[in-house]
Amino acid sequence: MAKKIAVLVGSLRKESYNRKIANELARISGDDLQLEIVEIGNLPFYNEDLEQSPPQEWLDFREKIKYSDGILVVSPEYNRTIPAALKNAIDVGSRPYGQSVWDGKPGAVVTSSVSAMGGLAANHHIRQAFVFVNVPLMQQPEAYIGSVHNIFQEDGKTLVERTEAYLKKFMDAYPNWVNKF
Ligand SMILES: Cc1cc2nc3c(=O)[nH]c(=O)nc-3n(C[C@H](O)[C@H](O)[C@H](O)COP(=O)(O)O)c2cc1C
Repeated sequence: MAKKIAVLVGSLRKESYNRKIANELARISGDDLQLEIVEIGNLPFYNEDLEQSPPQEWLDFREKIKYSDGILVVSPEYNRTIPAALKNAIDVGSRPYGQSVWDGKPGAVVTSSVSAMGGLAANHHIRQAFVFVNVPLMQQPEAYIGSVHNIFQEDGKTLVERTEAYLKKFMDAYPNWVNKF
């Protein structure tokens, strides 16, 4: 049976390149994986006081992550680090203490940027948070996509051949990583 992979997109904007990449990853991934974007834009900011009666959005999010077999993050870099919405989602999933829904889920990270650096800093800051919440992240291949505004065909949503081939290698390696856990 295909493994269910929760996909977190770090950008909330409608025309987000990262969301388009996430959609393309779903298209090019093999039958071993079933990718589903889990929305993070509706999650109230994490506040421990709310744990007495947690917002329904938190509960729904935790449930979706809990019943997934892996976590795939596709994110831009904001000011050399993780977009706040993504960090908030990581925090929401990590609590209440002792009940983190991330624990042990095999993950992978793709970052992109309009600059040439491909979100390198964000990629490694995501890794830093995931070390602590015990999401083992695939180390190789890595995926940094620079000049993200140039990786789509004229239809604005299909990857150009070169980027598709690059990400296909990444998505072909991920099931092996997921199956190790
Ligand atoms: C608040 C903000 C901060 C940004 N900081 C960075 C940055 O540190 N490094 C970078 O390469 N690009 C940065 N960018 C540019 C993003 O790479 C670019 O906006 C990208 O398209 C965002 O991804 P999206 O298309 O999925 O929304 C920033 C953009 C915003 C809105």
